[in-house]
Amino acid sequence: MRADAGFHAEQHDDVSVQARFGDLKTFLEDRLVGASLLVERLLIGLLAGGHLLVEGSPGLAKTRAVKLLSQGVHAPFARIQCTPDLMPADLTGTSIWRPDSGTFEFVPGPIFHSLVLVDEINRAPPKVQSALLEAMAETQVTAAGVTHVLPDPFMVVATQNPIEHEGTFPLPEAQLDRFMLKVEVTLPDAATERRILDLVEGEAAGEQNASTLAPIGAAEIGQARAAAMRVFLSPAVKDYIVRLVTAARRPDLHPAIASKIEHPASPRGTLALATAAKARAYLAGRDHVLPQDVADLAADILSHRTILTWRALADGQTPRRVIGEFLDVVHPV
Ligand SMILES: Nc1ncnc2c1ncn2[C@@H]1O[C@H](COP(=O)(O)OP(=O)(O)O)[C@@H](O)[C@H]1O
Ligand SMILES: [Mg+2]
Repeated sequence: MRADAGFHAEQHDDVSVQARFGDLKTFLEDRLVGASLLVERLLIGLLAGGHLLVEGSPGLAKTRAVKLLSQGVHAPFARIQCTPDLMPADLTGTSIWRPDSGTFEFVPGPIFHSLVLVDEINRAPPKVQSALLEAMAETQVTAAGVTHVLPDPFMVVATQNPIEHEGTFPLPEAQLDRFMLKVEVTLPDAATERRILDLVEGEAAGEQNASTLAPIGAAEIGQARAAAMRVFLSPAVKDYIVRLVTAARRPDLHPAIASKIEHPASPRGTLALATAAKARAYLAGRDHVLPQDVADLAADILSHRTILTWRALADGQTPRRVIGEFLDVVHPV
């Protein structure tokens, strides 16, 4: 009897937590014009415990999006602006000498926050990028032989500008799969641009209506994550994910497409696609994953894990487009 009552109480909680994520989504969409895709991806990252790489030209509200997320989530937030002279310790922290106690004390760097915005990551030198990617993979930092565990939740959103080349360091391709999703933001159309102007002009004039959103705390995020991971992934949808990911490794099945690929995605891609699809279904208020969740996320999950041949690149192909070609020929059963 009591166990039964507890079960119902928990169910109710799960429903309200799901509704709270809906409120957070609305809060972000109201303040980011025409950016519902980016908003959804940010929330998928938060729910699936994944990191995001956001690519796009300057001025497309990348920084604004993450700052807004930090307002909607009650979790410690840090922003790191990358420059070529940044050093790993600027990110991870340093041990400083305390003469009074005669010991070294570790002073944690900005990475020890729950939500970390790494702005313009491709302007950071390789040593910093590698320290960051390592911390992301291991959720810990080792300094002077001592391991320091990063907070939970821990989410990195890195931005990069594709048009800048001088003074930038491309991220190591082999480590890009530390990011669960790579999102590309593009220039808005005229109608959207006009709404942006109205919104930002209104804000400057102090017209922004105050938010009634109570920020979502770490416990709620944990509960939502657990619920999202209980979303049902049917054997048929699992098969679809696997066939989609492994198609790139099967030159016999789709030779014209597979031959464009030098290095296909690993099982990490499969796992990320399954987890992100569950988070997408959860956000949509469903208790099961649809093939459409998988198809919608495939490019954002797989493109940065797929390396094309030099010949395909010379032909002007992009991993995103090649993933799109696989989506056209690999169908759910
Ligand atoms: N879709 C959008 N919705 C709301 N504001 C936007 C949008 N796109 C651009 N802006 C505005 O443009 C400016 C640049 O945004 P910012 O976040 O600094 O861009 P980025 O980090 O991509 O370079 C900000 O004032 C922001 O409010
Ligand atoms: Mg920015």
